Amino acid sequence: MVHFSQAVTAILLATGVIAHPGGNTNKDVLRRQAHLDHPNRRTVASCKRDLVESGWVREQHIRREARLHELRVAAGFAKPHELVRRDPAEAEANFGQAAACTLDPEQTEGPYWVSGELIRQDLLTGEKGAITHLDVNIIDTSGCKPVTNAYVELWGCNSTGVYTGVKARGNGDGSASAIVTNALRGIQPTGANGTATFITVIPGHYVGRANHLHTIVHHGAKLLPNNTISGGTISHVGQFYVDQTMLGQVEATTPYNTNKQVQTKNAQDQLFNMAKQGGDDATLKISLIGKTIADGLYATIDVGVNPSAKRTPQPVNFWTEKGGIPVPNSPWTGYPDGCRYCGFGKNKRNAEAEAEAEPVVEDAE
Ligand SMILES: *[C@@H]1O[C@H](CO)[C@@H](O)[C@H](O)[C@H]1NC(C)=O
Ligand SMILES: *[C@@H]1O[C@H](CO)[C@@H](O)[C@H](O)[C@H]1NC(C)=O
Ligand SMILES: *[C@@H]1O[C@H](CO)[C@@H](O)[C@H](O)[C@H]1NC(C)=O
Repeated sequence: MVHFSQAVTAILLATGVIAHPGGNTNKDVLRRQAHLDHPNRRTVASCKRDLVESGWVREQHIRREARLHELRVAAGFAKPHELVRRDPAEAEANFGQAAACTLDPEQTEGPYWVSGELIRQDLLTGEKGAITHLDVNIIDTSGCKPVTNAYVELWGCNSTGVYTGVKARGNGDGSASAIVTNALRGIQPTGANGTATFITVIPGHYVGRANHLHTIVHHGAKLLPNNTISGGTISHVGQFYVDQTMLGQVEATTPYNTNKQVQTKNAQDQLFNMAKQGGDDATLKISLIGKTIADGLYATIDVGVNPSAKRTPQPVNFWTEKGGIPVPNSPWTGYPDGCRYCGFGKNKRNAEAEAEAEPVVEDAE
């Protein structure tokens, strides 16, 4: 159990940081603090012994190594017999350390979650950017086992910093042009070993936030005939980040370098900094498939969840075959000019009071 200095929270609150255009992260900072202080909180690192002893860490290392090699062969950068294996003992020794990309941060869903997305691996739908093969392992930190029957949801903005499925001032030009596509959004089941895999792009940047991908982990959801899910519970709401050096390389490529929005670096993003507390690290571990960013990327991350925890993120829209439609009474409706979850600008003080009054939604069991 880790206790955090309330002083850190106080400092972050005092800075009144901007979350999204016109937004402010005070509520998110308080929510993350509540998670860090939760008596049942466990990190992926706390499962190290069990996961190493069961052979899972070794298997995952070998599987990921083989997958990267497969991608290199497919792209013409290696021959099948050229796989150079690293000692799995090294991966076992490093497992659970920050550098090994483990996390269980709880972070906001943000104003642009669109529920009802499709189960699919390839999220590109025509979007251009640094193509990324993302491999997410989900670990139950309460029982120290991979989670084999969850659905992992992923969404991010496009390479020039615009989210699909929504219309909001501050999302691109604020027009409804992006509402009709579901690009860069989708859901994947975790397989027998707790792994969900996606193909997406490294998200671009938009005003006030460092580049990030959003994720939600669903448990007990029902698979519908039209390849969507319904019901169940959500144990984890998080965000993945990209190392600043890698981001510099990605942002130098087209179309990222055509983005006119002001960029926020990781170090200036309070949510990124909060995500790194308590032994967590939500930064993707990324390898080049070939020689350049344009040859594609392979990214991995291990996410720790407590499957019995219940979070209640709020979608702003619902995806239908005709595009995103508003979710009635969503607290994000009207973002960023005025909405129940906005909490900024002239109502800043109210927002802080509201955030403090908000119950901690994680199951205390
Ligand atoms: C990102 O999405 C916006 C809105 O749909 C679009 O105008 C822009 O061209 C997209 N960026 C790229 C690089 O395609
Ligand atoms: C899961 O792990 C087993 C070994 O326990 C391995 O044989 C199998 O290939 C793995 N499956 C996947 C999809 O990684
Ligand atoms: C899938 O089916 C559900 C239940 O009938 C429906 O509400 C939803 O709009 C459908 N989604 C899509 C993308 O067709």
